[in-house]
Amino acid sequence: MLIGVPTETADGESRVALVPDVVRKLVARGAEVIVQSGAGRAASFPDALYATAGAKISSDPAAVWSAPLVVKVAAPSDAEASKLGPGAVIIGFLNPLGSPRATRALAGAGVTAFAMESIPRISRAQGMDALSSQSNVAGYRAALLGAGYSGRFFPMLMTAAGTIPPAKVLVLGVGVAGLQALATARRLGAQTTGYDVRPEVAEQVSSLGAKWLDLGIEAAGEGGYARALTPEERAAQQQALTDAIKGFDVVITTALVPGRPAPKLVTAEAVEGMKPGSVIVDLAGEAGGNCELTTPGEETVEHDVTIISPLNLAAEMPEHASQLYARNIQALLELFLDEHGELALDFDDEIVAGSCIVRDGVIVNEAARAVVEAAA
Ligand code: NAI
Repeated sequence: MLIGVPTETADGESRVALVPDVVRKLVARGAEVIVQSGAGRAASFPDALYATAGAKISSDPAAVWSAPLVVKVAAPSDAEASKLGPGAVIIGFLNPLGSPRATRALAGAGVTAFAMESIPRISRAQGMDALSSQSNVAGYRAALLGAGYSGRFFPMLMTAAGTIPPAKVLVLGVGVAGLQALATARRLGAQTTGYDVRPEVAEQVSSLGAKWLDLGIEAAGEGGYARALTPEERAAQQQALTDAIKGFDVVITTALVPGRPAPKLVTAEAVEGMKPGSVIVDLAGEAGGNCELTTPGEETVEHDVTIISPLNLAAEMPEHASQLYARNIQALLELFLDEHGELALDFDDEIVAGSCIVRDGVIVNEAARAVVEAAA
């Protein structure tokens, strides 16, 4: 089986789907890998490392895209999807709930497509969980961004020039990214607090040495994700949060509900109530943001508070983000390839079936189909 690794072309995408170490393992397993020249450069993996690992390097994108199996980070553009060969298989963050365009293009190309986002979150699939691996990177970066943009120390300092109290950091939405943000902020010496609508998170937050902000609203939904709140719950939550937020120096928000706009947890009133110089890092920008004053993708100052909304934080740490992502792909390929390195897809397998959004040109994932139909 020939596996193609194209250069990512989406704006700001510096990651690459396979790193040389993983290429070496796939080659040892009988696969062949063709890497587009320069595909790993932005992630600090030059062509020579891929060549040493046993990959063929090609400066012809068509040769890479025509491989029977193509691995990507971001969803392909329409032009890229049309370069896929008939019956090809593509794997990547295909954004089935957010990008009907990509799903339609892949169906139009008649290929079979697997979305990393749609891999069921079961124990057997943990090694393939790219949402988690990349959220981990994003959470770490978010804490560093908060510290970098703040004019205040995170740790407590006792110096001859006086004592500085530790910064107070609040993380709203404590999934994978939120937990890593709490852990990182704490390592930097901040006093940390976490909040989520899934009550089971409280224990994880305490185990990271953080306080739990209890607003008395519980909204655990299906598959371990949160459900959307009722209008009454939302109003009560916003008021309680607006009061609480004023006391924090840095607020990191990561709250998401799959397939829906991000909940607005930080009101304009809350921003106005924060001390001048405070910082909000809003990781929910892709879904509209968790703060009412967020401009997704931008850095703005409102009421003397800096609001940063990076859209692809994992890509800001491309080397390790790619390394983790490539291992996720490798784990998925262990399931997709037989002992000779040939594609052997078993659609009775829960992970294969669950992650497949388009099969031979037909949209087979219900949620993805609904999004495509709604956009038509
Ligand atoms: P996510 O990125 O979908 O959302 C981030 C956080 O925002 C979640 O903790 C969610 O509860 C919270 N949130 C949503 N609406 C909110 C609101 N109105 N107010 C406050 N917080 C709100 O979450 P992520 O990181 O993808 O994790 C989702 C779930 O998947 C978690 O239960 C996690 O433990 C689970 N998981 C399971 C894995 C496995 O079994 N293999 C691996 C990774 C995560």
